[in-house]
Amino acid sequence: MRDEDYSQELLHWYDRHAREMPWRVGPGDLARGERPDPYHVWMSEVMLQQTTVVTVRDYFLRFTARWPSVTALAAAADEDVMGEWAGLGYYARARNLLKCARVITKDHGGVFPDTEEALRALPGIGPYTAAAVSAIAFDRAAVVVDGNVERVMARLFAVLTPLPTAKAELTDLAARLTPDLRPGCHAQAVMDLGATICTPKSPACGICPVKDGCQARTQGIQADLPRKLPK
Ligand code: ADE
Repeated sequence: MRDEDYSQELLHWYDRHAREMPWRVGPGDLARGERPDPYHVWMSEVMLQQTTVVTVRDYFLRFTARWPSVTALAAAADEDVMGEWAGLGYYARARNLLKCARVITKDHGGVFPDTEEALRALPGIGPYTAAAVSAIAFDRAAVVVDGNVERVMARLFAVLTPLPTAKAELTDLAARLTPDLRPGCHAQAVMDLGATICTPKSPACGICPVKDGCQARTQGIQADLPRKLPK
């Protein structure tokens, strides 16, 4: 399979099978020109960092109902935000969320910057979140790499080097597959594929949209990848 064929198959699959999430705009609405709210994308990505989609959904809906915009969040009392975060854990995320909302309100007029570089300058926004917001909210060709993406790349290209040594190589592969058109949908397609089909155990290769281009599957080693160095 050529690099562009992977993305084409993934986008086609995503258009039919994207998971519905309250912060997402469906493929049909995107095609009509609608974009997701950067505030929603940012909040969901921060919440999703150490928490599952199922748990995040309710917290996300409560947060955005109570604080519908980044400027509303910036004006919230610290203890109200910490109280609403209770149960999600990793409380530094909540403190950074509020800090970031205040910087965006004060220094950026309440408007999210759209480049990875400007996003990374904000409190609590690291390389992953900057790439995710830039790709998903602004459709920039940022390379989004989380554990799901690493697993999918390791299998598609049969990368035998163990993690974390393989990180740079897997990021390069993810970059190679990132298309100029619809990079935000592509990023979410790879993450959805990793969460629902290319799962850590017993991947459902039979229904995978890129199974014909999967080198690990050809070799029958998909369940053994990615390799990991013992901790
Ligand atoms: N995990 C973290 N962010 C995600 C996203 N935007 N789509 C699917 N899975 C995710």
